[in-house]
Amino acid sequence: MNINLYPIISDQISKPALTVVLSELEKMLDSKTTGAIVELGCYIGTTSLFIRRVMNENKDNRPFHVYDSFEGLPPKSTQDSSAAGIDFKAGELAVSKKQFMEQFRRAHLEPPIAHKAWFSNLTDADLPDHIAFAFLDGDFYESILTSLQLVWPRLDNDGIITIDDYHRETLPGVERAILDFFQGKSYRLSYAHNIAVIRKDFS
Ligand SMILES: C[S@@+](CC[C@H](N)C(=O)[O-])C[C@H]1O[C@@H](n2cnc3c(N)ncnc32)[C@H](O)[C@@H]1O
Repeated sequence: MNINLYPIISDQISKPALTVVLSELEKMLDSKTTGAIVELGCYIGTTSLFIRRVMNENKDNRPFHVYDSFEGLPPKSTQDSSAAGIDFKAGELAVSKKQFMEQFRRAHLEPPIAHKAWFSNLTDADLPDHIAFAFLDGDFYESILTSLQLVWPRLDNDGIITIDDYHRETLPGVERAILDFFQGKSYRLSYAHNIAVIRKDFS
């Protein structure tokens, strides 16, 4: 899709990173994998709006779920310490679910199913049984680790996980969580513009 046609409504994702996420989403849609689409860490909906637009362009109406505390970031763990990352504090990026929904109303787009919860409190009932595409954007070690624990067992064989802030000096917990979670698992990882792209590996 041509992302230049629409505004990027926050500074939480760059245009090159958004392009990577959306091109992986388009690949998944082309592959006819049937599971749902999820975003863990949706904030105000910067990326969610574009995910819906890509779904619409592809006439795809599978379930689309988003998850957020809608109370901003949780406290950091020691895994997140970085001299360069002192700016990220608990409670930052707090927007309400109503504010999130308002963005979809303004854009005349159907909103996703929005879940207000800390990721660690999500249960099986909150997640689709099968996931074809995930965008993980929880910024911190525990948030990404929990997101992977929830998504990986549900990921379709052709499914794709994209994760923001990979290899980012200010948010070292993201890469640490990925390395810790995937230790001993079969997976393929590539990355561009701080987006990690992860698939199952059957070779
Ligand atoms: C970088 S922002 C997400 C930006 C969003 N993807 C976008 O495109 O606008 C990170 C979001 O993750 C949420 N978050 C981080 N850790 C969380 C957790 N453990 N449980 C619930 N929400 C969390 C924060 O509330 C925040 O809204």
